[in-house]
Amino acid sequence: MQPLRVLVLDDEKRVTDELKEYLLRKKFQTYCANIPEEAFELLERTAIDILILDIKMPGMNGLDVLKKVKQEYPSMEVIMISGHGDIDIVIESMRLGATDFIRKPFGHFEVQLAIERTQKYIGIQNKLQQVENQKSLITRELETQIERDFIGTSRKIKKVLELAMMAAQDRDVNVLITGENGTGKEIIARIIHYASQRKDASFFPVNCSAIPESLLESEFFGHKKGSFTGATENKKGFFELASQGTLFLDEIADMPFLLQSKLLRAIEERKVKQVGSKRLIDVDIRIISATNKNILQRIEDSQFRIDLYHRINTFIINIPPLRERVEDIPPLVEHFVDYFSVKKNKPRPKIHPNVFSKLSGYHFPGNIRELKNMIERALIVCREPVLEERYFPIISNGSKTYGSGVPDTLILEDNERALIQKALEITNNNKTKASELLGITRYSLIRKMKKFEME
Ligand SMILES: Nc1ncnc2c1ncn2[C@@H]1O[C@H](COP(=O)(O)OP(=O)(O)OP(=O)(O)O)[C@@H](O)[C@H]1O
Ligand SMILES: [Mg+2]
Repeated sequence: MQPLRVLVLDDEKRVTDELKEYLLRKKFQTYCANIPEEAFELLERTAIDILILDIKMPGMNGLDVLKKVKQEYPSMEVIMISGHGDIDIVIESMRLGATDFIRKPFGHFEVQLAIERTQKYIGIQNKLQQVENQKSLITRELETQIERDFIGTSRKIKKVLELAMMAAQDRDVNVLITGENGTGKEIIARIIHYASQRKDASFFPVNCSAIPESLLESEFFGHKKGSFTGATENKKGFFELASQGTLFLDEIADMPFLLQSKLLRAIEERKVKQVGSKRLIDVDIRIISATNKNILQRIEDSQFRIDLYHRINTFIINIPPLRERVEDIPPLVEHFVDYFSVKKNKPRPKIHPNVFSKLSGYHFPGNIRELKNMIERALIVCREPVLEERYFPIISNGSKTYGSGVPDTLILEDNERALIQKALEITNNNKTKASELLGITRYSLIRKMKKFEME
């Protein structure tokens, strides 16, 4: 291990000599200076871990040296040497970042203690730094994972990724992502954020349709304590919380009309005002919005402000539905089978080729999310080494029916019975798995089986 590097700065040569002798005996790499200029010259050339610094010196005093050192070499630790009656200055020096102090006249024991304490402190700092580095490693790992986990080989999805990368390169441009349910709008928004200069600040997702209208303004812009009943504390809004980062406005088309004008103003002026406050706060964020609704229709119906639309759609990315890019189905299936096998700790089954052809013929109204759920369900019930077509009980001409097992009737009970029958067939009468397929609890499956006298 590298020996500790210590510099002693004291105008009294007697003090520096004595300390030097002691520190060398302790096998520290030791340097001395009797005037500040000499010390700063040395610091320019040599890395030092600890500076032992006299408070009272002619010319530049110890506090000024401390300030300068902390400014120029923030990671260097400083132990002050104080004389009698310097207590106020000692307090001030601790406030300025000194780690410890020894009082003149001192013996070797005091010096040793102060150095040990400081070494311990340096050790903790290093550990913190390591944790910090590890954390950023993990974040980087996550970032690459996000991109690795974005699957798709079709020309259409590659175009989407290309546009996302273009948007990422500009730090500020507002992006609108459109596409049906489950097409991957949020993933694309995250990819843009993590590929952009803003990646070290937060990605802040907000579901605009999920916030009660009465709270919208305070949620977005924050509020001052006491500005309305229930405002018991000062609170920052989404704009401030996402500061420097990306605010992801999901389901933007559902944003109440009243808030739209306030949002527009905030985006245009890049400033927000908290509820109950007069002060304007600067905000620096990028806005990515997403919607699966036809926003132009909303404008036509006077539900959405056209000026806000023009503000948020500087850059539009449309994600095509899965049925328009069926080439992506096989790699997605492989990916999700890998993913859920690992997650559920099961041996990874082979995929029967018929699965691909069956799924390619399906129109996937729920897009990738639907495919993902389907595969999760299939893996729950599959116990064989090959994942077969029968584990994907879907599909006939677009609507979700369950093949020949469904009676030709709209009577709910008859259909319920048939679906239960089908689920039991697929799962070889395993009630737990059948209930998972049906999306109900095992208990309610048993109740229904009793009701239909199916046992
Ligand atoms: N290209 C892709 N590769 C891998 N996984 C994907 C891809 N696209 C979407 N997914 C997965 O599908 C699911 C739905 O994606 P996401 O939430 O981004 O869709 P969305 O368009 O925001 O849906 P909604 O309109 O319902 O909010 C997520 O679990 C996501 O991880
Ligand atoms: Mg979404």
